[in-house]
Amino acid sequence: MSGPDLRRAAAARALDLVEPGMRLGLGSGSTAAAFVDLLAERVRGGLDLVGVPTSEATRAQAEAAGIRLATLDEVPELDLTIDGADEVDDSLRLIKGGGAALLREKIVACASRRMVVIADAAKRVATLGAFPLPVEVNPFGLAATHRAVEAAVAAAGCTGPVSLRRTADGRPLVTDGGHHILDARLGAIPDPEVLGAGLWAVPGVVEHGLFLGIADAAILAADRGGRAEVT
Ligand code: 5RP
Repeated sequence: MSGPDLRRAAAARALDLVEPGMRLGLGSGSTAAAFVDLLAERVRGGLDLVGVPTSEATRAQAEAAGIRLATLDEVPELDLTIDGADEVDDSLRLIKGGGAALLREKIVACASRRMVVIADAAKRVATLGAFPLPVEVNPFGLAATHRAVEAAVAAAGCTGPVSLRRTADGRPLVTDGGHHILDARLGAIPDPEVLGAGLWAVPGVVEHGLFLGIADAAILAADRGGRAEVT
């Protein structure tokens, strides 16, 4: 099965968790987009709920698909957030932010009673860190913040380069919140809690892509002989 088929299978299972009247956080990325597509079909079939998107891209997709939307200011407590992830470990610790939406994703997830991750089972890892860890930073004092992030990474026992994420045409990527992203290519993160605390202590760091103690469950889809096995 292809990646898109697996992502859709995980998204389809997550749809079983959705109930009428829910206040639903809508994640970002291709797996979350598959979920929004499937959710829109249900909404067209009469399901009434309100969604809070975690990025401008998700907002545009959900709006075009006819899903009723609100901001987190209008609906500050959510029942459930469904979102993708770049890595998931056995303790439901995540790396997120491959799509640069980590700040809003974390705010929305933390405002939700439940956060459920949907992903291709290939995202499951024994140790977080093979995927570059995104760190969202304020543009002011970028060079100083970059150095401080490198120091925080080293102090947490990690090694690897930290680089500014750029767009295809070479400009520094700007997030929906007007920030930049530093990607830390660490290979492995021996203690995610220590690294997370170290990054938060850096002035200029707005948020990091370690989601620790936030996810409640993961729905992972694996290819088993040409069929999707969803667990
Ligand atoms: C965006 C994210 C995404 O959820 C994550 O990158 C996974 O994306 P995809 O479902 O396309 O693999 O964190 O900031």
